Amino acid sequence: MSILIKNGRVIDPANGIDEVSDILIEGSTIKEVGKSLSAAAAQIIDASGLVVMPGLVDMHVHLRDPGQEHKEDIVTGTRAAVCGGVTSVVCMPNTSPVVDNKTVVEYIINKAAREGYCNVFPAGTITRGLAGGELAPIAGLKAAGAVAISDDGMPVKNSNVMRRAMEYAKNFDMLMICHSEDLELVNGGVMNEGEISTRLGLRGNPTVAESIAVARDCALAEYTGARVHITHISCAESVEVIRAAKTRGVNVTADTAPHYFSLTDAAVLGWNTNAKMNPPLRTADDVAAIIEGLRDGTIDAIATDHAPHHIDEKNVEFDLAMNGIIGLETSLSLGLTHLVRTGKLTLPQLVEKMSANPSRILGINRGTLAVGAAADVAIVDIEAKRMVDVANFKSKSKNSPFDGAELFGEVRNTIVAGKIVV
Ligand code: DOR
Ligand code: ZN
Repeated sequence: MSILIKNGRVIDPANGIDEVSDILIEGSTIKEVGKSLSAAAAQIIDASGLVVMPGLVDMHVHLRDPGQEHKEDIVTGTRAAVCGGVTSVVCMPNTSPVVDNKTVVEYIINKAAREGYCNVFPAGTITRGLAGGELAPIAGLKAAGAVAISDDGMPVKNSNVMRRAMEYAKNFDMLMICHSEDLELVNGGVMNEGEISTRLGLRGNPTVAESIAVARDCALAEYTGARVHITHISCAESVEVIRAAKTRGVNVTADTAPHYFSLTDAAVLGWNTNAKMNPPLRTADDVAAIIEGLRDGTIDAIATDHAPHHIDEKNVEFDLAMNGIIGLETSLSLGLTHLVRTGKLTLPQLVEKMSANPSRILGINRGTLAVGAAADVAIVDIEAKRMVDVANFKSKSKNSPFDGAELFGEVRNTIVAGKIVV
């Protein structure tokens, strides 16, 4: 079976390509890229006026499977992904049971291969049971197919445990994804510490609780030489710490999530639990610093931290509500609306941060439209306006602060391994 995508604006940042051209897919790979291609018996997709980009790679997703399928599962989560143009996800290991052994890695890989809509790359934990004490069997997790380790949801509090974990990770060339947070400084805070938390009477979580931990993790990366990636950075000080580390030549990369460049803590006004996540939404100055970090390359990637929660876990007092928002079905539109249309990033830069860069950091061989690459493609109308309606989401959960927002960008088709799934 072959597919011919005609006359789209093909953007492939990995190869510096941004031009109108055709793409021929044969089987599960890209066969040819060029002008005026033809192929007998190919299914034709007319992409005139549309953008053809590598399927997006989201390196921070909670699929909640196994164990919390009332929030999401591998089928609904990957369905949501492809509706957002995402063709590869890294799923975080804070499931139930947690992904600290090869059986759970194998369960995820097998279920995703049988029933999933996109590529699923599991992350294993850093420590057994996410408990922060004993190291998980990192080599075994890698052998079973985990692409990274992370205790996401929790920081690894003990710096010596983190040091040893990085040393092991380095030996097995395993990527370490850090949820960097100092829980003593968080001190029970439930939103950003500042004017709005004071007005709302909510306990504040200061930016330094994040940046001090980012600084530790960068220092340990420098000391151990491990491949370290700092995820979901939200504030100006963290950007500065990572910028300085990169300038010194530390082997560190970073991502932020769309909500950190598109919302401030003012979204919490009204005690809106759909604007509650960890790290929390920050101030306009932080948003500006995050965008500057994206522009100058300090922040390599955009990942959603798609964190589904059931309505009963959000429809409670702000203090008690679970942290996290869903993101797979709005991430590209938020990037187009808040970064590209505002002139902060070019379209190829946005695509690079959502596909080529995360793929390179993970070493998963995706995020490109080169001949011979896996045929993971998103075809997008970047001019189309959409009104976000969570009722139409494929995710099982609806906890989005963007319900009702007017955004740009409609995903028209998503292709995974040569198969049209949207
Ligand atoms: O908001 C968040 N939700 N932050 C995390 O670190 C974990 C995540 C979750 O698992 O819900
Ligand atoms: Zn996290």
